[in-house]
Amino acid sequence: MNTPMRLGVCWYPEQWPEDWWEEDARHMAEIGISRVRIGEFAWSRIEPEPGRFDWGWLDRVLTILQSHGLGVVLGTPTATPPKWLVDALPDMLALDEAGKPRRFGSRRHYCFSHAGYRAESRRITTALAERYGQHPAVVAWQTDNEFGCHDTVLSHSPSAAAAFRRWLAERHGSIDALNRAWGNVFWSMEYRSFDEIDLPTLCVTEPNPAHVLDFRRFSSDQVRSFNREQVEILRRHSPGRDVTHNFMGLFTAFDHHALGADLDVSTWDSYPLGFLEQFWFTEEEKLRYARQGHPDIAAFHHDLYRGCSKGRWWVMEQQPGPVNWARYNPSPLPGMVRLWTLEALAHGAEVLSYFRWRQAPYAQEQMHAGLLRPDRSEDIGAHEARQAARDIALIGPAGEPPRSVALVFSYESCWVTDTQPQGQGFSALRLAFECYSALRALGLDVDIVAPGADLSGYRMVVVPCLPIIPAGFASRLSSFEGPVLVGPRSGSKTASFSIPEGLAPGELQGLLGIRVLRAESLRPGLEATGEGFSVQRWLEHVEGEATVEERLDDGHAVVVRNGSRRYLAGWPDARLARRVLLRMAEEAGLATQELPEGIRLRRAGSLCFAFNYANGPQTLPPAAARDFLIGGAELPPAGVAVWRTNP
Ligand code: GAL
Repeated sequence: MNTPMRLGVCWYPEQWPEDWWEEDARHMAEIGISRVRIGEFAWSRIEPEPGRFDWGWLDRVLTILQSHGLGVVLGTPTATPPKWLVDALPDMLALDEAGKPRRFGSRRHYCFSHAGYRAESRRITTALAERYGQHPAVVAWQTDNEFGCHDTVLSHSPSAAAAFRRWLAERHGSIDALNRAWGNVFWSMEYRSFDEIDLPTLCVTEPNPAHVLDFRRFSSDQVRSFNREQVEILRRHSPGRDVTHNFMGLFTAFDHHALGADLDVSTWDSYPLGFLEQFWFTEEEKLRYARQGHPDIAAFHHDLYRGCSKGRWWVMEQQPGPVNWARYNPSPLPGMVRLWTLEALAHGAEVLSYFRWRQAPYAQEQMHAGLLRPDRSEDIGAHEARQAARDIALIGPAGEPPRSVALVFSYESCWVTDTQPQGQGFSALRLAFECYSALRALGLDVDIVAPGADLSGYRMVVVPCLPIIPAGFASRLSSFEGPVLVGPRSGSKTASFSIPEGLAPGELQGLLGIRVLRAESLRPGLEATGEGFSVQRWLEHVEGEATVEERLDDGHAVVVRNGSRRYLAGWPDARLARRVLLRMAEEAGLATQELPEGIRLRRAGSLCFAFNYANGPQTLPPAAARDFLIGGAELPPAGVAVWRTNP
C-alpha cells in the first residue's frame, strides 16, 4: 500500500436535524476523518411510498460531505425493506426453522430466495446507482449490510424450498445420483423425484447430514447471487468506484471467499469486546480481556478478510466504546480505540471506519456508544480517533506483510463440524482460531487463506481442520516443501458427507503416512494427558508408517510426522500447539519470540508494530536497536509501539 490508511465513520443524517449536518461534517474532517458511510438503512426516507423517491435530502447530504472533502461510501438499503414493501409482498419474509415468519419491526426481514424481493433489491439498487453512480462525492458502494446478521442466511420458506430443489437438480443431475450421494437407502429416505425433497428441518431426529450440508451450500450460494446482482448494477452505473460488503466477526454461515471474489474490497465490522463476551472464550479470558477483547480477535479477522478480495480490505465498523448487543457491555480500556485503529493499519487496512458518529438517543441501539454522545459532545472514542489520525500521519503507509505462515481455512469445514460436531464444542472455526492464536503468541505473522490459494512463497503451512479436501488441494500441499501441519478430521469426509473409501485422511493419506482407525470425543474432564500438555475434546487412533513425535502418557500417538508433514490426532491444548508450531517454525527458519502475556507483534514492510492487550504494563523482549516512531519498549496497557526494523 502506498497511501496511509484513512479514517472513516458511519453516519445516519436521516436520524438528525438537518441543521446539524454541516457542523457534523466539519467536525468529522477536523478529527481527521475522510470517509463517511451513509444510507444503508434509509430506504423509508429514500422511497417513502412505492415509486415516489425523495432524493432531495440525500442530494444535500452529499453536497455537504463533498464540500468538507469527505468521500462517501453509499450503502444500498436492502437490509431494511420498508413496511409498505413487506405488506405488498408478505411472503418475502424468511421463515425460521419452525416455519414462523421473521416479521417486520427490526431489520433483515427478507428471504434471499424470494424472486419478488430480488426484483425489489435490483430496482432500488438501480435507482440509487443511476442517481449517484457518477456523483463526485461517491467513492465506494456497500451492498446491503452484514449478510446473515441475526441468523438470517437460512430461510425455511416455500421460496427457499423451491430454489433448493432446482439447485439440487443442477448439482446432482438425477434423483438416483442424489440418493446414492446422500446414502438415502439408510432409513428408507429415498426420493423418486427432486419435487419430493423438503428442507432438512423439523425431522424426528437429526436429518441426513448430507442433506443439511447441501442446504448450507445452497443457502451460501443464494447470498452470493443476491450480492452479485447488486454488484453488477453498481459496476454498470458507477464504474471506477469500489464495491464492498461489510462482513461480520466469527461468522461462517456463507462462503466469504466466494462472495469476496465478487467484490473489489472486503470489509468487516470489528467489535472485539462483544465478540469476546458472546463466543466460546473461557470465563477467565472473558474477565482478563473484558476491556480489550482477546488479543487475537481483531487480527484474526484482518488476516482472514485480507484473503477474500485479493488483499484489499477495510474495517467498515469499529467499536468506539460500549456496544448494546452482548450479554455484558463494558467500556474499552482507555487507549483501546486507538490501539484497534493502529492494529488495522499494521495488518494493511486501507480504511478504518468507526461505528457510529453519534450515539442515537432512541430505538434499538440507544445504548451503543458513538464517537459523540447524543448531546453532540465528544466521547472518548472521538479523542482517540483524533490521536490515531495523528499517529497515522506519523507512520505513513504500511508496507507489505511478510509471507511467513499460511493458515488454511474453509467455510465448508465449519458447515461440516456444525452439522456433525460429534462432540460438543467441536468447531472448525474455533480450532482455526486457536492455531492462529498459538502462532501469534510466538510472534509470527499469519495469512489466513482459502484452500484454493497459492501456497508458494510461504515458509510453513497449517491446516487446522479440513474435513472435505477440495479438488487440487492435496497436490498443492504435496508440492509445498516447507513444514506442514494438518489437524484432526481433515480428509475425513467426501464431498457428499460420507467416510472416504480408504478412511480418513482420505486423499492426504499418502502425504501424511497414516490412516485414522477411530475417532472419539471427550467430555470436559476426560482429558488425555501427555508430558506437559493435554488433548481435549477430540482424539483419533491412527496407524501408519509416520513416526510418532508426541504421545499421551498411555502411549497413544497424538502428533505423527512423515518427513516435513505432521498430523495432529487430537485437539491440542495451547501448550501442545505451541510446542509443535515452535518446532515447525525452527525448521522453516522463522524467528520466534518469547512474548510477554498480551503482547502481539506485526510486521509490515520495514515497520514492526507491538500491541499490549494485557491489563498491566509489559516490556518488549530485548532486541537490536529499535528506531521507535511511536512508543517505546515499555508498553502501558493498550499501548502501541511502532519501530523501523532496519534503521
Ligand atoms: C453491526 C451492524 C450495525 C450496528 C452495529 C452495532 O452488526 O452492521 O448496523 O447494528 O452492529 O454494534
